[in-house]
Amino acid sequence: MNTSQSIIKHDCSFDAETLRHHFGQDVLKGLSKPQKTIPSKYIYDEQGSELFCKIMDLPEYYLTDCETEVLSSNREAIDNLIGSDNFNLIELGAGDGAKTRILLEYLVDSGREFQYCPIDISESAVVDLAERFNKDLSDLEINGLVTDYFEGLNWLSDQGETNNLILFLGSNIGNFSPPEAVNFLKHLRRSINTGDHLLIGFDLKKEVEVMLKAYDDDQGVTEEFNTNLLARINRELGGEFELENFSYKVKWDAVSNAIKSYQVSTCEQHVNISTLNRSFAFEKSEPIHTESSHKFTLDQISDLANEAGFKVVEHFLDDRGYFVDSLWKSS
Ligand code: AVI
Repeated sequence: MNTSQSIIKHDCSFDAETLRHHFGQDVLKGLSKPQKTIPSKYIYDEQGSELFCKIMDLPEYYLTDCETEVLSSNREAIDNLIGSDNFNLIELGAGDGAKTRILLEYLVDSGREFQYCPIDISESAVVDLAERFNKDLSDLEINGLVTDYFEGLNWLSDQGETNNLILFLGSNIGNFSPPEAVNFLKHLRRSINTGDHLLIGFDLKKEVEVMLKAYDDDQGVTEEFNTNLLARINRELGGEFELENFSYKVKWDAVSNAIKSYQVSTCEQHVNISTLNRSFAFEKSEPIHTESSHKFTLDQISDLANEAGFKVVEHFLDDRGYFVDSLWKSS
């Protein structure tokens, strides 16, 4: 029998109409820039989220296996280091929860008292997760929240004195620009109590070939995932992108330490987007920047922790040294 379970849809401005309006405005702003860009968060509609789940299973996308190894090998150490008896385990951007399960199972089996609060913008992700964990981990108390990271942090700040362990896994931090990452982590710090813990995943800098391959797999799943950005503009904003007139490209940017993804126009063309009442001109070979996936060194991670008001407790690495889940304590 399950202890308890609830799903709260945060009643902020997340109705479909408002979301579509924000999407349109961001596309208008991004495609009007001299170097065209579209925020990568818009890849994740239902199709995009499904494709991301497929990416996580690809052999080239080493991040999943590495983080699975890190959590499996260190769950006992993590449990010992967080210490407190009664806590909220809050997961930002919960996704399919496959890696979180490793930690949850261990904590439940050790008889730890905590409630699990997955926070995700995708309602289906939170509901599916709660249903699955409800079945398999019947002693786990689950209180899911459907909202974005920032509203999730606002909710967190109202949670009182209970100790928190925040999970921000899977290198999600790497999709922020460096200033965005600092702001986000400072905001996170302000939303929790002194002494709370954060377990945060970072993909480490490594051979360029290995990193490039992870974003350009042989089956073309990542290409389809990225192209979903244009397909979604067609579906939701009345866009007329001819998808075959764009090609997916990735490159390593050694200055910003990021894999950068692009949709490159293969010919001179105009693309109309009817709900924006605008047509956008593309030169042959002109790129739209669609995603940055930043990679880190351990020193950069420690600096980031200090800048945001945390102390590094321990870095947990996989055997190859490809990935780290870093445990931080708010100071
Ligand atoms: C969600 N995020 C951490 C992924 C990454 O590695 O940047 C998104 C992704 N893009 C292409 N493949 C995976």
